[in-house]
Amino acid sequence: MSGAKEGAILVVFGATGDLTHRKLIPAVAELRRAGLLKGALEIVGYARQDLDDASFRDLLRQTVEGDGTDDVIASTCYVRGDFRDAAGYEQLAKRLQEIERGGSYAGRLYYLAAPPSFYTDIFRGIGAAGLAKEEGGFRRIVVEKPFGGDLATAQELNAELHEVFDEKQVFRIDHYLGKETVQNILVLRFANGIFEPLWNRRYIDHVQITVAESLGVEHRGRYYEEAGALRDMMQNHLLQLMTLIAMEPPVAFEADAVRNEKVKVLRAIRLPAPHEVPRLTVRGQYGKGEIGGERVPGYRQEPDVAPDSNRETFAALKLHVENWRWADVPFYLRTGKRLQQRASEISVQFQRAPQRLFPREARLKPNVLRLRIQPDEGITLSVGAKVPGMKIELRDVEMEFDYDSFGQRGTEAYERLLHDALIGDSTLFTRKDEVEAAWQVVDAIERGWQQEESGPEIYPAGSWGPESADELLHHDGRRWHLR
Ligand code: BG6
Repeated sequence: MSGAKEGAILVVFGATGDLTHRKLIPAVAELRRAGLLKGALEIVGYARQDLDDASFRDLLRQTVEGDGTDDVIASTCYVRGDFRDAAGYEQLAKRLQEIERGGSYAGRLYYLAAPPSFYTDIFRGIGAAGLAKEEGGFRRIVVEKPFGGDLATAQELNAELHEVFDEKQVFRIDHYLGKETVQNILVLRFANGIFEPLWNRRYIDHVQITVAESLGVEHRGRYYEEAGALRDMMQNHLLQLMTLIAMEPPVAFEADAVRNEKVKVLRAIRLPAPHEVPRLTVRGQYGKGEIGGERVPGYRQEPDVAPDSNRETFAALKLHVENWRWADVPFYLRTGKRLQQRASEISVQFQRAPQRLFPREARLKPNVLRLRIQPDEGITLSVGAKVPGMKIELRDVEMEFDYDSFGQRGTEAYERLLHDALIGDSTLFTRKDEVEAAWQVVDAIERGWQQEESGPEIYPAGSWGPESADELLHHDGRRWHLR
């Protein structure tokens, strides 16, 4: 017998969509270049379009960009099949067996890159064709977001998924967890002794999380009309960032140990009653405006968007984590499209010194630890310092760490996540209970919004969102750091 099997087969459902050429093929090429793929990785595309191996490769060649992608494309193949039709899955099973007869493969990774309305059909199709059984190798499934549209649909989806796969076979993607700067939150907090003693309600005044985009909805109007900023960004990316900031130290850097702590945070978020929602949240929608000197249309003028749409493209929330560490410390979360600039940042604002010793000390800003997630990745700690000279004069200064100082390129989110799914490490993927707990928070807000008579507040494209988002903090005597 030979040693451990090393290769794997990646089956992409919905292979003719954007994700394959934009993210997956370049990620495979980069993993290959970096020597991070053990053995062969065969890619099997599955989709409805009438293609064969050669025309599938041609299609990829027209759209994929990046070094080393030609070799990856050359080793792809294609199975044509409907997501609802058993014959397609039978065909796929045959193709997989053929490939497996010709090489040594540790298992198969099924990747759902199809529209979410087909997820259930695909789970069932895989199950009925016996493709989920771990006979002769691992069988794992990567599920892209959105995972459901509210708690009930997420629970149904989980139930369907678990008819076919065990939780340990499931990898739910939140690509923010694959970002270097996001993984670094855990390292910063738990590989350094100085933060943990301060990381609580005694020393932290509040936390701000901003994920701002300058782009609009682009060609995704149809999807976005359903989703909005709350489902598209808050439910996953921003709440995930919040869990990493708020979680307790895990007992080990292992998938379940980390995720146990994250889910506790989500469960500890106080769910606002509908009548409290207007006081704790803001929703906005971009109107026309100017970004980087260019005039851009409003959301309601975008393709596939209803001219009277009330879908939010901006959301700001004030959340509370009800546990001993965080009681009374607000977490302000904010995300929006067509904002002034693309910038994602977490700021942890510390309380002021308990006593003022110096003249005009009150003019200093409070200490803020800013984790710049993207772009311009880095960490800044602002402190007060004495200006050189005979007088006691204080000024704000910044201690700065820049990711560029490593002098090496970071791993792209999809490279990291694809790699981890192939080796079976689910630390950076969201677990069933986590995704459901996040929906619970979103549902509570959505219920409040549905009872509101007014729609979202219109903000000009190129601004920092509705004025009410500023008032949300002013009301508490605070302000957004990023603006
Ligand atoms: C996706 C959302 O999950 O994240 C998009 O669906 C959004 O609407 C994107 O633009 C932002 O990701 P990133 O990595 O560019 O910050």
